[in-house]
Amino acid sequence: MKIFFIVGARPNFVKLNPVYKTFSKEFKNLKIIHTGQHYDYELDKAFFEDFEIPNPDYYLNVGSDTHAKQTAKIMIKLDELFDEDKPDWVFVFGDVNSTISASLTAIKRNIKIAHVESGLRSFDLSMPEEINRILTDRISNIHFVSEPSGVLNLLKEGISLKSIYLVGNTMIESLISVLKIVDDRFNNLSEKFKIKEKNYAILTLHRPSNVDNFEKFREIMDTIQEISNYIKIIFPAHPRTLKNLKHFDFKNVLITKPLRYLDFISLLKFSKFVLTDSGGIQEETTYLKIPCLTLRENTERPITVEKGTNVLVGTSKEKIIYHFNEIMNNNFKKGLDIEFWDEFVSKRILNAFINYLSNLL
Ligand code: UD1
Repeated sequence: MKIFFIVGARPNFVKLNPVYKTFSKEFKNLKIIHTGQHYDYELDKAFFEDFEIPNPDYYLNVGSDTHAKQTAKIMIKLDELFDEDKPDWVFVFGDVNSTISASLTAIKRNIKIAHVESGLRSFDLSMPEEINRILTDRISNIHFVSEPSGVLNLLKEGISLKSIYLVGNTMIESLISVLKIVDDRFNNLSEKFKIKEKNYAILTLHRPSNVDNFEKFREIMDTIQEISNYIKIIFPAHPRTLKNLKHFDFKNVLITKPLRYLDFISLLKFSKFVLTDSGGIQEETTYLKIPCLTLRENTERPITVEKGTNVLVGTSKEKIIYHFNEIMNNNFKKGLDIEFWDEFVSKRILNAFINYLSNLL
């Protein structure tokens, strides 16, 4: 049995980490394929170092481009690779362009597809990730789901129940694996950023709908300026966001390059609250029970709102400030534990995979 794990962008590496480690105890013939969608050190190599997972067996070096060209380039390169070295299964992760490109290339060559973090839906087709999710799920053979909403979404779309496994959240398994070791790092970070436990907030922003539309971006930044009168904000900025940030002059907002995983988790763990438009950070804050104001109108991760510490605030200044005050006055919801968001997610994936294979025989 030959299995390829196909990854390309920052959140993929976090999901790959536990799954690769657990599968490598059971299977010999595993390979990591990196599409090269992300290539900056902080978005890419630093994750492999922090997780101590091996360097990719193949690197496709596609780089940035329009969505169609990036997707097409990955497909062409993967297709050539599959011609030389054909796997029996590919594992794809999350919802990035590398996920759909790999899935499409695999199905055209009759290679089976396992989708980790399947079933999430924002019901917003203007998000490139939503298209990637729906299409990947439609052609995957096995669906590993992180929260109950995902199971319902897949069933509604006519996916067979036999292929669906509610296994929990691989991002949380990665998070738990480092939670103890990040405490030491906080000493350095607190010196570097001049912060103390719970006296700062974190901001991350990279969705095209928030950062590429300048009016909207300005509106968000205006609110951030106001909040920063009361609390220091650390803002690790994605490369696409950095380009627009040069138009602003902040006082109490500290802009940095994207942080490596261990540093980011360390800052997250000791932060007062988080403002973000990321998917994964909504989940990490829910696990850590840290208030999270999500600068989006919808989420594909509804459990973080229903049970966790997440609130969808969109980009309305009024709403953001209202919830900011709730947090500062310690009036914010506390959040509950989420079932299966633990250190055994990749073991459940492995067991489900073996179970699925044995049912095929
Ligand atoms: C991608 C994912 C998004 C995920 C995010 C995590 C898609 C459609 N989007 O968005 O779901 O949340 O990754 O970070 O797959 N760039 C660099 N260096 C890099 C990579 C990108 O400078 O290493 C710049 C380039 O200018 C590029 C832009 O960032 O054009 C966008 O990169 P891209 O991979 O297209 O999407 P992300 O915004 O990173």
